[in-house]
Amino acid sequence: MNVTDRIALDPFGADIPAEIARLRELGPIVPVELPGGIPAWAPTRYDTLKQLILDPRVSKDPRLHWRLWAEVGDRPAWHWILGWVGVVNMLSTYGEDHARLRRLVAPSFTHRRTEAMRPRVTAITEELLDALDASPDGTADLRAAYAHALPMRMICDLVGVPEELRDAFARLIAALMDTSDPSPERAAAVQQQLGTVLPALIAHKRKLPGDDLTTELIRVRDEDGDRLSDDELLHMMLLIVGAGFETTVNLIGNAVVALLRDPAQLAAVRAGTIGWDAVVDETLRVHPSIASLPLRFAVTDLTVDGVTVPAGDAIVTTYAAAGLDPERYGPDVAAFDAARGADDHLAFGIGVHRCVGAPLARVEALTALPALFDRFPDLRLAVDPGELRQVSSFVVYGWREIPVLLRG
Ligand code: HEM
Repeated sequence: MNVTDRIALDPFGADIPAEIARLRELGPIVPVELPGGIPAWAPTRYDTLKQLILDPRVSKDPRLHWRLWAEVGDRPAWHWILGWVGVVNMLSTYGEDHARLRRLVAPSFTHRRTEAMRPRVTAITEELLDALDASPDGTADLRAAYAHALPMRMICDLVGVPEELRDAFARLIAALMDTSDPSPERAAAVQQQLGTVLPALIAHKRKLPGDDLTTELIRVRDEDGDRLSDDELLHMMLLIVGAGFETTVNLIGNAVVALLRDPAQLAAVRAGTIGWDAVVDETLRVHPSIASLPLRFAVTDLTVDGVTVPAGDAIVTTYAAAGLDPERYGPDVAAFDAARGADDHLAFGIGVHRCVGAPLARVEALTALPALFDRFPDLRLAVDPGELRQVSSFVVYGWREIPVLLRG
């Protein structure tokens, strides 16, 4: 197809599977427009996406490799993208810069360090279940009261976000993730929030250092500015808090909804015929917490599956399209079937940018899910599944609320 025939991605992400199916019919990598009219390429197949992510000629640094980077400031409708690629952290750097930043935090998220967090995850889970148990009318919004609360508390403890800043962080991340309003006013409001919340965290930790990641990174910054600049310090904290909770919130929420919609499968899981690990992987395949992530950039002209992406063009990383690729997973690709054992999904990324928090996300989900269904064996949705609403975003893929009846 001609690049002038760009398909606009739905900024609300109202029906992501249908959008993917339409794009896939047009080819393995398709010219699209992100909200505000930002041009990009969208891979529609598992193999195409994987090949691009792993190609060292694909960068994540807009400052070095995006042909349109210099124009963003002059185009108000594009300002929203600055919240994603205008920050300097692991997610928006390339090569040695990326490796330098990743080395600073990766040791905090190893399997061993994550295992040590398990008792804390269990304690918070039990506390949240007790609070749900005390619901006077037996109803709850499971997203707010459970799926959101656990990862948020874990990551804020780890990073050292004080109680008084947690709501502000949650509001900032929610505003960033909601891509439905690309207006410059909205983008300015997000930048304003970024400019207050992040410095407030650093100022707090300078005054009251603790045994946490922010204190550790402030120490690195102070000892050796070549390893971490001021902006990198601020933006790394944004990335770790943002990536550290919003994604896991939706993993837990999406798994709960998938099981509540399919009592036979839930019964098989409860009976031990299907493992919770398989539930987590199938959730990540069918309903990945990040549907599509902005942005990557072609360092040179790249030809993939017969299509040439010119040097300097942007590419959106389409995890949901990969998980829903029938060539990879068969004709019933859209069906949630934990028994299929598809643990090769790309929902945690792959290659040098692979998610550092994947072990933590797994520990949280594998604690929260069985504990919830043990405590509330008759749990069910309080609304028809058709009434559940998606988060307004083409990036984040999850339910805005999950109203449930705790005791059936
Ligand atoms: C279900 C939960 C999660 C999902 C689906 C998820 C997904 C992802 C994906 C797809 C990437 C790769 C981005 C890319 O290639 O451009 C990534 C990177 C990252 N994730 Fe996660 N994530 C989750 C949980 C977490 C948690 C709990 C943390 C905690 C700190 C975290 C921190 C990060 C960071 C720092 C990166 C950047 C790595 C890099 O660029 O080198 N994530 N995540």
